[in-house]
Amino acid sequence: MCGIVGYIGHREAYPLIIKGLKRLEYRGYDSAGVVLFDGKDLKLSKTKGKVSDLEERAEKEITLNGNIGIGHTRWATHGVPNDVNSHPHVSNSGNLVIVHNGIIENYEPLKKELIKRGYVFHSDTDTEVLVNLIEEVKKKDNLKLGKAVQVALNQVVGAYAIAVFDRERPTEIIAARLGSPLAIGVGEKEFFIASDASPFIEYTSNAIYLDDEEMAIIRLDKPLKVRKIKDDSLVDPYIQELQMNLEQIEKNGYDHFMLKEIYEQPNVIKDTYRGRLHANEGIIKMAGVEDNLQKFLNAERILIIACGTSWHAGLVAEYILEEFTRIPVEVEYASEFRYRNPIIRPNDVVIAISQSGETADTLAAIKLAKEHGAFVFGVCNVVGSSISRETHAGAYTHAGPEIGVASTKAFTTQITVLTLIALRLAQAKGTMSKSDFHRHLQELELIPAKVQEALQTNEVAKAIAAVYKDAPNCLYLGRGYNFPVALEGALKLKEISYIHAEGYPAAEMKHGPIALIDEQMPVVVIAPKQEHYDKVVSNIQEIKSRSGKIIAVVTQGDEQVKALADHVIEVPYTIDALSPLLTTIPLQLLSYHIAVMRNCNVDQPRNLAKSVTVE
Ligand code: F6R
Repeated sequence: MCGIVGYIGHREAYPLIIKGLKRLEYRGYDSAGVVLFDGKDLKLSKTKGKVSDLEERAEKEITLNGNIGIGHTRWATHGVPNDVNSHPHVSNSGNLVIVHNGIIENYEPLKKELIKRGYVFHSDTDTEVLVNLIEEVKKKDNLKLGKAVQVALNQVVGAYAIAVFDRERPTEIIAARLGSPLAIGVGEKEFFIASDASPFIEYTSNAIYLDDEEMAIIRLDKPLKVRKIKDDSLVDPYIQELQMNLEQIEKNGYDHFMLKEIYEQPNVIKDTYRGRLHANEGIIKMAGVEDNLQKFLNAERILIIACGTSWHAGLVAEYILEEFTRIPVEVEYASEFRYRNPIIRPNDVVIAISQSGETADTLAAIKLAKEHGAFVFGVCNVVGSSISRETHAGAYTHAGPEIGVASTKAFTTQITVLTLIALRLAQAKGTMSKSDFHRHLQELELIPAKVQEALQTNEVAKAIAAVYKDAPNCLYLGRGYNFPVALEGALKLKEISYIHAEGYPAAEMKHGPIALIDEQMPVVVIAPKQEHYDKVVSNIQEIKSRSGKIIAVVTQGDEQVKALADHVIEVPYTIDALSPLLTTIPLQLLSYHIAVMRNCNVDQPRNLAKSVTVE
């Protein structure tokens, strides 16, 4: 959480930092700030609110010149969102400035010690402690900034991605990371620092992703150096060529990133299976799976760990993997798994799912599984992310940058990757008949076109949204493969429209939630024509006889449910295991329209951040 941007070079830093912060706002948006060095002095402006509030303030408050600067967009951890707690923070001498993403866990004892030495603190943040600790170390031993940062970081416990500079030496920025991502864009006599590559994508396609416990000494007059924070050893920096392009991170005429990303699903699902799925030849090729096939085939159990929407994709995968491969699967919240002394057996395969590849709980759960000797396979969207590097092997989803805080295309591409894995394992284990295998491959190839058709429910979803936009509660029900879709539908509604929503397996309704049903309660039932269809129809009858309002997602042409439901949304037919890829689409659209009609900030819902790098 929190986004940081820095620049040093020949351009004006301010516009670049502001634009970069806007691109990183998905990481946090409760306050923002920028500091520049204009050749004579530091110019600092910061405020509670969004980057646009910062822009308004900075333009009145400071001159905006300077070729070196750092900026921050915040998701509060220590100290409420207000002007004083916003970053950048300045050291007591007024020379050092810092932006920080992460948490310094031992900031209280460090702060006490610094207070004893005469330091004064203005904010409640751990970051202000860190910048003064760097100052103290630098002063005490007369160290250069890079060395002082290193010594200070060796005293802190916690997580950080930082960028620091000194007004007395404005030709150098020190960047460092542990547990929070940090990319350095390398241009011609200029460097960019950011939490991800999006702020500098139009300036350079060369990037260095720092590893944990690494720091970079970025100077204009000398080659960039990367060092290990612990032992000071030099690291040969690996310059990676970025695949991202500008179009992917702009709205392209859509009102919101979320809507754009919903509409990208046919293409990104195709991108995700392209080169991997060869339906006519009956082949699935995934290097990460192939190289480790024996480990998968020997697995006595597959453990899936993830959070939020990725956890829901894991639940869909549980149904698919068990059905296709007969390998027992357990799906765990990473946050629970990491703290509960879980049983991890030598022949367990762990699959970690994460869009951002930076989720702190998932990362910690992976480390724990590795400590127990498990083979860990990652399913990530962000190339070069911490999780993709921490896992033994993996497969990327090719969703492209997901900027809307509510996950949409990441979910469907995760399911696509996990389905490919399940099919490949089923083929290798012989747990699926050849004809079934071919049928699934062919049907998977048809999914992008069917998702395109499912997107045509947009107007219907919008009309239904208008009816229920003021509902205080909503229930989502589904069975089998579509139970996780019910959970995901409910999560989408609550996170962007702030309507309380619950997802349940349809049959569980009678064990409690049915008490909630009356004529005020909208119930979204996912009822495609597939196994257990009749049972779902019975559940719909139960809701109807208690006067609940039924919004049903059905297979095109369904007449039975149409006769019972208040509203139906029709999606194309597909085979059972693939139906979540279609049924989830109208639920995304429904929550999107409800949120828009309630004037909610769709792309940046309150209290949330896109990548949860704190526990
Ligand atoms: C919900 C959402 C979150 C994330 C969760 C895990 O729309 O986006 O629930 O799914 O924070 O994030 P990743 O997948 O990045 O590990």
